[in-house]
Amino acid sequence: MELARMHQMEEIAREYGAPLYIYDSAVIEEQFARLTRAFQGVKDVKLNYACKANTNINIIKFIRNLGSGLDAVSINEIKLGLRAGFLPQEIIFTPSGVHFNEIREAAELGVKIHIDNFPFLRRFSEEFPDYPIGIRINPHIKAGGNEKISTGHVDSKFGISINQVNDIVDLTRKIPLKVEGLHVHTGSDILDIDVFLEGAEVLFGAAENFPSLTYLDFGSGFKVPYKEGDKETDIVTLGNKLGLLFNQFVEKYKKPLRLIFEPGKFLVSQCGLFVTEVNVVKETPYRRFAFINSGFNHLIRPMFYNAFHHIVNLSNPDSKNEKTYDVVGYICETDTFASDRKIAEIHEGDYLCFENAGAYCFSMSSNYNSRVRPAEVLLLNGAPHLIRRKENFEDLLETTVEISL
Ligand code: LLP
Repeated sequence: MELARMHQMEEIAREYGAPLYIYDSAVIEEQFARLTRAFQGVKDVKLNYACKANTNINIIKFIRNLGSGLDAVSINEIKLGLRAGFLPQEIIFTPSGVHFNEIREAAELGVKIHIDNFPFLRRFSEEFPDYPIGIRINPHIKAGGNEKISTGHVDSKFGISINQVNDIVDLTRKIPLKVEGLHVHTGSDILDIDVFLEGAEVLFGAAENFPSLTYLDFGSGFKVPYKEGDKETDIVTLGNKLGLLFNQFVEKYKKPLRLIFEPGKFLVSQCGLFVTEVNVVKETPYRRFAFINSGFNHLIRPMFYNAFHHIVNLSNPDSKNEKTYDVVGYICETDTFASDRKIAEIHEGDYLCFENAGAYCFSMSSNYNSRVRPAEVLLLNGAPHLIRRKENFEDLLETTVEISL
């Protein structure tokens, strides 16, 4: 991070208090533009922001203003999208294992829906015979940065197996099912573009069986760089290669088709910083710990996925004196953010800043240990705006019903 940037972030943390999430809208805009440019060879492309990555309504609104659609996985994400100004048909609901009531509610709201099991295909056609649907296919491709975020392999809970496509076709002959779209999503953090191309081939093969498609949805999974020297998915080459294959398929299909992606991480990961304050530095004969005023209640990716987040000491920006630290949280469990990490010398009260904190960080936070969630700030044209206040003690009790005991 540049020196001027570090100073600016430290100032913002001082003003709003740490821990604090800070998102830079300029980075989101740039990422959206890069992805759009990469697929400019395809006539009809739509990016649907996967808002599970960051559901702050201001982020959703900002991305809508860039021209995005929305990918939602729960009825509440749909409602957030509608509140943010999306039209129902700009939202695709791709749930996994939700109750049918949620799918019914989504249909009543008029959003697009992806179904990924036979019982619900039957049920949906009984209740909504004229409502076009999309189907999530499991392509049997193992991909993604780790087991937890790998969703397209043969043993995964997601999608209808590619080997059951004939059964779907049989079903469309027996019951009124208007299949307008097919969807695959194989995982997150996918570096190898062949995985996307393989998924596309599987989808093209399946699509030949459905004559009234209007779109093919290739999900997401674009990898972003987390550490120095890390690579991101080569979206330009992917855009050229996949774009070519897609255009060839559309020609063969003989009807116009829209290409959809649902990026989450690619759009918002790098826009985000998470600034924390150092409570205490503890040295043992064996380790040097920096305890920060946070834990996996605020940022669980390092503990849950073993994810790497680069850490910068904002309060010691130009120190040549790096030391090796374990950066740990205040939760009463082992909550290690980083082990054996070289960081500019840390003192009590310093601001430590985590990079890549825009995606799946605040949105995966909790109140564990009765801790409150932090505030969020959005930089618009460089100027900070508070977009979520820090929670307080009363918020923790708000949904509790105190009975007489
Ligand atoms: N579409 C579907 C159907 C998905 O399940 C997901 C992510 C996305 C799109 C967006 O994928 P992305 O562009 O963000 O890779 N919490 C994990 C990532 C879980 C992704 C879940 N599904 C993490 O922090 O790495």
